[in-house]
Amino acid sequence: MSRPLLGSVAIIGLGLIGSSFARALREQGLATRITGSARSQKTRALAESIGVVDVAYADPADAVRDADLVFLAMPVQSTEAVLRAIQPALRADAIITDGGSTKGSVVDAARRVFRTLPAVFVPGHPIAGSEQSGVMAGKASLFDKHKVILTPLPETSAHALHTVRLVWEAMGATVLEMSVERHDEVLAKTSHLPHLLAFSLVDTLARESENLDIFRYAAGGFRDFTRIAASDPVMWHDIFLANKPAVLNALQHFSTGVEQLRIAIEQDDSETLLGIFTRAKVAREHFTHMLAGTAYAKTMKTKNIEFLVQPGGSLKGHFRVPGDKSISHRSIMLGSLAEGVTEVTGFLEGEDALATLQAFRDMGVVIEGPHNGEVKIHGVGLNGLQPPPGPIYCGNSGTSMRLLSGILAAQSFDTVMTGDASLNKRPMERVAKPLRQMGAEILTTGEKGTPPVTIKGGKHLKGFHYDMPVASAQVKSGVLLAGLWADGETVVTEPAPTRDHSERMLRGFGYDVKVEGATASLKGGGKLVATRIDVPADISSAAFFMVAASIAEGSDIVLEHVGINPTRIGVINILRAMGGDLTVMNEREVGGEPVADIRIRSARLKGIHIPEDQVPLAIDEFPVLFIAAACAEGTTILTGAEELRVKESDRIQVMADGLTTLGVKVQPTPDGIIIEGGPIGGGRVVSHGDHRISMSFTVAGLRATGPIEIEDCANVATSFPDFTGLARRAGINISVIEKD
Ligand code: S3P
Repeated sequence: MSRPLLGSVAIIGLGLIGSSFARALREQGLATRITGSARSQKTRALAESIGVVDVAYADPADAVRDADLVFLAMPVQSTEAVLRAIQPALRADAIITDGGSTKGSVVDAARRVFRTLPAVFVPGHPIAGSEQSGVMAGKASLFDKHKVILTPLPETSAHALHTVRLVWEAMGATVLEMSVERHDEVLAKTSHLPHLLAFSLVDTLARESENLDIFRYAAGGFRDFTRIAASDPVMWHDIFLANKPAVLNALQHFSTGVEQLRIAIEQDDSETLLGIFTRAKVAREHFTHMLAGTAYAKTMKTKNIEFLVQPGGSLKGHFRVPGDKSISHRSIMLGSLAEGVTEVTGFLEGEDALATLQAFRDMGVVIEGPHNGEVKIHGVGLNGLQPPPGPIYCGNSGTSMRLLSGILAAQSFDTVMTGDASLNKRPMERVAKPLRQMGAEILTTGEKGTPPVTIKGGKHLKGFHYDMPVASAQVKSGVLLAGLWADGETVVTEPAPTRDHSERMLRGFGYDVKVEGATASLKGGGKLVATRIDVPADISSAAFFMVAASIAEGSDIVLEHVGINPTRIGVINILRAMGGDLTVMNEREVGGEPVADIRIRSARLKGIHIPEDQVPLAIDEFPVLFIAAACAEGTTILTGAEELRVKESDRIQVMADGLTTLGVKVQPTPDGIIIEGGPIGGGRVVSHGDHRISMSFTVAGLRATGPIEIEDCANVATSFPDFTGLARRAGINISVIEKD
């Protein structure tokens, strides 16, 4: 057996924390001998009789005499007295650490006793406990999978810090380090304040005359909220006095919040109440995911997700893919800026659109939902946004960042927008430049003009005519949105038709937008009026199943309620030109957007030279169209598509690499690709975190001769939640592998 990490360990205070520490030391074989000290004779006798410690002393000095490590686990107000008592008996090299819930007071006590703090002193705090107390309540697993905060001081030696860290880690804890001040500030808010409220609520109710009845009828909420009011009174008495300034500060903050609620209730102010409750609910969910070690919005992002697709299969059935991403973003933006309440159905609950939703919540807009695709936005009007509390995080979403640039450029407050690793590489100057010409002050980062984007508030914008050098709906929309606040007319001319959802939806909100040929214009100074929005299914998500059914022999599917806006139907046109069998049925209009059901049957595809005028109309669908090309007879040539190189990944190179791995003959070019149809093999491909690449190679599995493994698929959640579920139901043999 290996030697224990420590020789003799002394534990002062044998309550819940001290006795759990002793039990964990024993269970993990970390010490050769454990001594303890407790004031109560009963505790000492119990601790010895159940073997928590080898010997328990009344005088802490006796306990520490030969100790290599001393752990202080008594209420924090006793720290000074205990340190004074043990000082003469301590070995010079004995490491001293503690488990107190406040750190400033413990360090001050040590300073008063030792004058210069010893290098062996490592203040600490296990974030673990229970409302039970006493030696019998301890358990060896108390710290397992819990956090322990160490607050080393400049005087603390690396050796002492390392040893204490090893002890906690051996007990299963995760060790974090922070400053004493930060610890006390954070704990005042996250632990001390909630305990104070629980004690206060229970005491207040218990003192009411009819208290018996109240407690008899108390519901689960009361039980959940007040569980911690059963905690050790002496310990908490000490904590509140020891951490006085930080606790008072937290309490002051909280009182302001409660007062705001009181006034809102008194005045029947539903908006304020809903605002507070929806924000709290989202924050609580956010924290729940954080506490569970997952990221925001049930994302798969922090995890490493791989897809494994078994070869073969065919597709059958009727399906509805999730809501349109572009329209979902715009519904939140315009709904927030409108006057009145906008109700949205079919909203895409993917991470990109949720990033936009969160941005507007951060700017004070009350948004209920999303719940099963339903969202209710309490618009604040064009001049009602408030400064966000910090940088706006756009995640993976270029649409959020570029469209928001236009909106934020016109606000009275400053903002910063950041994104994830992929978004942080994408060009933002394309929208910053025209906005600057309107009078905005915008900074992008680095030589390539990427995020973070910093926008100065309080600028007066002027309308102008922008001739866009690239066909980009995001840029067009960013400029038109800024135009809502600009003096005079804002005019945008595009080099080729791009999606016109902004123009259509602005009209839906009652704003006058003129469109003549390639030019869209609007005048500043109007207002948006709340409306209802039914978001159609996203043709960009439907595209994966259009190609899948086309290439997999024996397939016959219907995709329902798909948006077929003429600026988005490139994928249908291109597949048809390749010989695809697609029937557009039940065409109708929903809230200003054309919608249809689309039947797709498998067909023999042939290679074509894709007409360049189709490129902007299918800009997001090329990754999966490349799979169609690989399954077609002959050569497919794409030109005029250099934009693909600046999407969530360089989609020309990343697709070329993946297809080559699968044995397909491809030739990437600066503005496109040449693909020879032929057999597709199995293999391992890399998606570079690009959702559409992951989904495209999933589709390729239908015609592959071996399994395809796809790396880095977590971002599929940005645009297509439950893609794998729907793919499986449709007939694709896909499994998800979660790596740590
Ligand atoms: C979008 C426009 C397109 C598209 C993106 C969504 C939009 O980007 O690729 O997925 O909602 O306006 P560009 O404007 O950069 O072409």
